Amino acid sequence: MAATHSLSSAALSSSSSSFFSHSSFNAKNPKVSFPGTRFRVKCVATSQDSMTAYKTSVPRNANMAKLQAGYLFPEIARRRNAHLQKYPDAKVISLGIGDTTEPIPEVITSAMAKRSHALSTLEGYSGYGAEQGEKPVRALIGKTFYSGLGIEEDDIFVSDGAKCDITRLQLVFGSNVSMAVQDPSYPAYVDSSVILGQTGQYEKDAEKYSNIEYMRCTPENGFFPDLTKIPRTDIIFFCSPNNPTGSSATREQLTQLVQFAKKNGSIIVYDSAYAMYISDDNPRSIFEIPGAKEVAIETSSFSKYAGFTGVRLGWTVVPKELMFSDGFPVAKDFNRIVCTCFNGASNIAQAGGLACLSPEGLEAMRGVIGFYKENTSIIMDTFNSLGFNVYGGKNAPYVWVRFPGRSSWDVFAEILEKTHVVTTPGSGFGPGGEGFIRVSAFGHRENVLEACRRFRQLYK
Ligand SMILES: Cc1ncc(COP(=O)(O)O)c(C=O)c1O
Repeated sequence: MAATHSLSSAALSSSSSSFFSHSSFNAKNPKVSFPGTRFRVKCVATSQDSMTAYKTSVPRNANMAKLQAGYLFPEIARRRNAHLQKYPDAKVISLGIGDTTEPIPEVITSAMAKRSHALSTLEGYSGYGAEQGEKPVRALIGKTFYSGLGIEEDDIFVSDGAKCDITRLQLVFGSNVSMAVQDPSYPAYVDSSVILGQTGQYEKDAEKYSNIEYMRCTPENGFFPDLTKIPRTDIIFFCSPNNPTGSSATREQLTQLVQFAKKNGSIIVYDSAYAMYISDDNPRSIFEIPGAKEVAIETSSFSKYAGFTGVRLGWTVVPKELMFSDGFPVAKDFNRIVCTCFNGASNIAQAGGLACLSPEGLEAMRGVIGFYKENTSIIMDTFNSLGFNVYGGKNAPYVWVRFPGRSSWDVFAEILEKTHVVTTPGSGFGPGGEGFIRVSAFGHRENVLEACRRFRQLYK
């Protein structure tokens, strides 16, 4: 969703340098605030925008105009660049946007290279593939992640990533649905809902869009909303393990969620993009919960398992048991959208997906995930030893650190200015993230160790 506490780059660069000199403040002191201003995230018009005199006669999409800010992660990248301009010699470490850093295992890239080379031969060339994905890929995703759960190969749609599927699902739902979302949560759910016109205007005081039900997830409620207090909505976006809090829902909690959806006739869109990071016995898929096939869709991705954030490969499961109120299968409408808006995942990426799911590929992916999980432990230990309340981490590559009473954009800026480490301000994920910082465990080991050394220095 839109980041709500904003900070113009001018404000950041003009006010913060001397303020953050090491001797001038105690960084843990909640009373410390930035001189002059509460920061506001804004898409700043470039000089080119303001110089354009000619205007077309096309009205701007009113839903786009409702969006409050630049999408969170580009905004953070922008600030990182502004910081680099200010401190060209600084060794900036990014534990912010959550992009993977470690090389893709060779067993996977060699399969992609082979497929790529084959495209230069008459026998190996292929053009458009099935929009839903290649059959062997669908079958292997089913066997690997949904074995014994009653999910069939044709329930699985291979895609260019979970984020793209979230928007395609929103296209299926259209403008006339209401939606609920964990607060805080990955911004794509709220922003795509706004773009589709499912919401009202942004309410500045509440820092929420009207017609979205924000299900507050805090340490106090174990990061699971009190469903007895949540009004019915058509769609419920639910991400577990959650980005940004790093918490994952238990079997009992997911059972409650499925029963809640069933009672209300709602559809759950379950985002399991981090399921392979779960190390306890919490469910990896919503379809482990009895009855979920009648109320849930699941979207997932190779991005954070195999370093495919650039390669682009994901999937969405739409069980045939899931119906709209008129009895029409949701999968048929999703298929229609996929066929209209998408021409299938890259054949090279799909070769990579097949390799990921081979026995050697699975072992290699577990190796990469294990590496990031070690990073997570290093970050958690650091903040724990400094006396912070630290959440997440165990089942996700994200550490959620509390800074009571402080604006998360202030803390973000403080950490960037004093340590040259990019984190993510919790309020960028919704009002429930205020007072938290998300630290991503995606990083080279030496960078994570160095970042933690700097955190210790700053908050000792
Ligand atoms: C919860 C969640 N869902 C989806 C995505 C996007 O995944 P993909 O790269 O497959 O589009 C992300 C990426 O950070 C994420 O955190």
